[in-house]
Amino acid sequence: MGKRIGFIGAGNMGSAMLAGILGAGLARADEVIASVRSEETAGRIRDKYGIEVTHDNRRAAEASIVFLAVKPAQLPGVCDEIRETIGDQLIISVAAGFDLKKLHAALGQDAHIIRSMPNTPAMAGEAMSALCTDDKVNDQEKTTAVRMFESFGRAELVAEDLMDAVTGVSGSSPAFIYMIIEAMADAAVAEGMPRRQAYVFAAQSVLGSAKMVLDTGKHPGELKDAVTSPAGTTIEGCAALERDGMRAAMIDAVRTAARKSREMSGK
Ligand SMILES: NC(=O)c1ccc[n+]([C@@H]2O[C@H](COP(=O)([O-])OP(=O)(O)OC[C@H]3O[C@@H](n4cnc5c(N)ncnc54)[C@H](OP(=O)(O)O)[C@@H]3O)[C@@H](O)[C@H]2O)c1
Repeated sequence: MGKRIGFIGAGNMGSAMLAGILGAGLARADEVIASVRSEETAGRIRDKYGIEVTHDNRRAAEASIVFLAVKPAQLPGVCDEIRETIGDQLIISVAAGFDLKKLHAALGQDAHIIRSMPNTPAMAGEAMSALCTDDKVNDQEKTTAVRMFESFGRAELVAEDLMDAVTGVSGSSPAFIYMIIEAMADAAVAEGMPRRQAYVFAAQSVLGSAKMVLDTGKHPGELKDAVTSPAGTTIEGCAALERDGMRAAMIDAVRTAARKSREMSGK
């Protein structure tokens, strides 16, 4: 009899997901098993989460819900190993670049598979995750999966043809925002603020602004208008951003990442 949840791979992404699921009480530690490659990771995961850890992927694949959280290069080998173990459990892959077609080819046409793309803020419990699937997966399985992803951030079901857009707007965009935070902090340092304080002021301003968009549901333009008083400081800064092509640069960055994702999957 398998456990309720199995993780194959518990590195950066797998551990962040584990932490969210256990932290939200969606499963008890004794209901979760992870399989990893090294003894070092096994010890760390056992100590940190108190779950059973194995090196036998088939054992983890006996669980009712199986997360595939190994690197894309490791996934084909793992799928070969567990293919015979897979029955009607729910398989959730986080591997970038593996679409449902490839996952079905690797795991069987009748497997219940969800393809997901979380992002690295999962490590801070603030991921944006996209999940897509096909008609092999029923509504209850979809709801269960979304709830699991919501334990470490936000999650939405999307059509699979949006996964390249997802790669740009949430998969890659944390790097773009880190660059913006770094640039804002550089400017504050140039204005005399100590470096450590500059990162806090810049990062908290990004966090707060994002929260305003999500919490109020207001159009970002309306929120911008609300902080730009006539002849004030902020509108001068906005004009500078427009002059320097900020919007075009960001549109270009997100679309370039989406295009690269399409190219990498051979589309
Ligand atoms: N990090 C991201 O930003 C991000 C975002 C979205 C999606 N993803 C996806 O998440 C997946 C994992 O990425 P990651 O950054 O978490 O990688 P990672 O930190 O390298 O973790 C990979 C895990 O897989 C284990 N592993 C490797 N080969 C294995 C095998 N043959 N059988 C069982 N376990 C094995 C590793 O064990 P050891 O530690 O013992 O080697 C490790 O625990 C990738 O497919 C990636 O595309 C990552």
